[in-house]
Amino acid sequence: MSAPVLPRVVVVGSFMQDLAFYARNFPRPGETVMGEFRPGPGGKGFNQAVAAARAGAATHFVGAVGRDAFGHGAKKFANGVGLRTTFVEKPKHATGTAVITISEDGQNHIVIAPGANLALHKQDVPLDPFRSAHVVVCQGESDYRTVAHVLKTARKTGAVTVLNPAPMRPEFDCALLRHTEVLIPNESEFIALARLHPGCAALLRSAPYRDHGEFNESALHALKADALHRLCRCLQVPIVILTLGARGCFVSQPDAYLRMNAHPVEVVDTTGAGDAFVGGFAAGLVKFKRNVVEAANFANAVAALAVMQPGTADAMPNTREIARFMRERAHAVR
Ligand code: RIB
Repeated sequence: MSAPVLPRVVVVGSFMQDLAFYARNFPRPGETVMGEFRPGPGGKGFNQAVAAARAGAATHFVGAVGRDAFGHGAKKFANGVGLRTTFVEKPKHATGTAVITISEDGQNHIVIAPGANLALHKQDVPLDPFRSAHVVVCQGESDYRTVAHVLKTARKTGAVTVLNPAPMRPEFDCALLRHTEVLIPNESEFIALARLHPGCAALLRSAPYRDHGEFNESALHALKADALHRLCRCLQVPIVILTLGARGCFVSQPDAYLRMNAHPVEVVDTTGAGDAFVGGFAAGLVKFKRNVVEAANFANAVAALAVMQPGTADAMPNTREIARFMRERAHAVR
């Protein structure tokens, strides 16, 4: 009998049953539109874990579900993709659910009911998977006290801690960033973080960071790379990777920064694109021995492949697909 493969990536976070509706346009308030229904496994934590596992990293997911059909489905799906799991059953709670509408151009609106996910407490999190972990990942669909505990534990074991602050909730505590080595927000999360973080306040009062008196999306878009890097540094996290949707990502390290373009692809569904990036990045950190730029480049390919498929967890590409895509794109730029 061969020894079990030890997990290198540990993701502690949410599982949601996604109830996705594909329609031509988003309904306006008061309007009913016809669409196609596609349920599937999701939740930011689970999507990231599946992305990392399919991208080739031995991955362990820790999450909470209710004692219901959606929880059973989660376990079955995880087994099928070779993802190791600790699903803590919370009989008093329902498995988390998400209602998602996706328009013809692949954009989405999401409402979540986190259910059991917010009942995952620090004492529910097993320590064993952390012993071999190189990378530990958390997001914002969990209780922030559990997130803080996981990040602190991971730091003690020497793993790289990755925080994807999605979704940003009003009670976000900037103290979480003290235990974070890689922060991966999208644009709206980055804006909210910068406005919240006391270390950014002075900089945000200066000219390039203001549009109509505040730091908003247009101010962010107008920033030159060195100004954006300066703002990233104010968050006091060693590495900040700002994901920019179709415009790629911005990688800010203590002494260097770079912009990475997204791969132009035919977009079917952008739901879970950020999760594909985060999971791909975690797998990339393992594959490329903690090289951040190589890992971000790998993550960029994982995200591009994911948006070409409908669904979230089920849209994550496997190692063969990623390798082929990266080979083809490398040829295309020569
Ligand atoms: O990031 C996409 C995910 O957000 C969906 O799978 C949904 O469950 C919500 O958590």
